[in-house]
Amino acid sequence: MRAVRCVNYGEPSGLNVETLDEPVPGPGEVLVAVEAAGLGYVDALFVRGTYQVKMPLPFIPGNEIAGTIEAVGEGVPGDLIGSRVMALSNRGALAEKLAIPAAICTSIPDGMSAEAAAGFLVSYCTALYGLENCGALKAGETVLVLGAAGGVGMAAIDVAKAMGARVIAAASSEDKRAAAKAHGADMVLDYSLPEWRKALDALTEKRGVNVVYDPVGGAYSETAFRCLAPGGRHLVVGFANGEIPKLPLNLALLKRASLVGVDWGGEIRANPRANGPLLTKLTQWVVDGKIHPEPAASFPLAEAGAVLQRLLDRNMVGKPVIRVNA
Ligand SMILES: NC(=O)c1ccc[n+]([C@@H]2O[C@H](COP(=O)([O-])OP(=O)(O)OC[C@H]3O[C@@H](n4cnc5c(N)ncnc54)[C@H](OP(=O)(O)O)[C@@H]3O)[C@@H](O)[C@H]2O)c1
Repeated sequence: MRAVRCVNYGEPSGLNVETLDEPVPGPGEVLVAVEAAGLGYVDALFVRGTYQVKMPLPFIPGNEIAGTIEAVGEGVPGDLIGSRVMALSNRGALAEKLAIPAAICTSIPDGMSAEAAAGFLVSYCTALYGLENCGALKAGETVLVLGAAGGVGMAAIDVAKAMGARVIAAASSEDKRAAAKAHGADMVLDYSLPEWRKALDALTEKRGVNVVYDPVGGAYSETAFRCLAPGGRHLVVGFANGEIPKLPLNLALLKRASLVGVDWGGEIRANPRANGPLLTKLTQWVVDGKIHPEPAASFPLAEAGAVLQRLLDRNMVGKPVIRVNA
């Protein structure tokens, strides 16, 4: 099978397609013919070896897949063969075949493409868990999404709109802001400008925002916290900017505001049943056309390293998906 493998930590642009042996499904496992793999910023950090936890070498990057079950291991019903599934594995997505536990596979809703399914689970579950469970977002409230044209940000726009919120999308370039607008944002903001808080004041008529969805960190976070309306919630989702911000806590007191950590992966590891209701709601929203998880762009397997590099270089618009069989 064709696969992209990381044998040494380093720049993702150095990754190449290799030919490797196909895995064999063990007891309780299925063999998935992978059609598409979703990539995120964290996958690029694993390849560079700079994520907080190091992935043991060698490894095949990527943990979001969509494809078709081709074979089953001992104890798995044979009638699953031919099912279209999406799943989150620990690694191994950038390969034509992947053996994973049958229990972690979810059916792809009718009408959803493999590319949309591959980019769906992490970004959309994080968005719904963050905005609903952690942020208690209500219809009619205003959400500021930072890094809005990234994979996590785009999903947050979509989910916040489905929840009836007004969305302000912050992104650093014209093409990113255009993509965020096309994905449903009501208003866009250039947060690369030093005075971006004034621009946000103008957009909200100085009322501020109810929720900040923050997968970026760095200096953006404190400014965003200062943009909260009284009773606002700042959702800490990630640190794509690289710098972990510090916050003067008097701001939380003055605004009666909350700072809430959003760790969707940690939540479902601690409480595996927590994801069922999120997934049920999200897949129904897909069927009803309430959310639109089609990725902005997809790429052939040979470009996977370049795509991961573009995530690190802040040079990607939307959630990138790899067409593994292309
Ligand atoms: N909490 C959770 O459960 C959870 C789940 C999934 C992911 N995450 C985290 O969410 C974060 C975003 O992931 P993602 O896959 O959406 O990444 P992404 O697609 O690369 O988007 C991140 C965005 O951050 C902005 N950014 C600002 N400074 C940057 C810098 N120095 N380098 C790169 N990007 C920068 C970029 O937008 P602009 O250029 O417009 O600023 C970029 O679009 C990551 O830290 C990831 O680990 C958290």
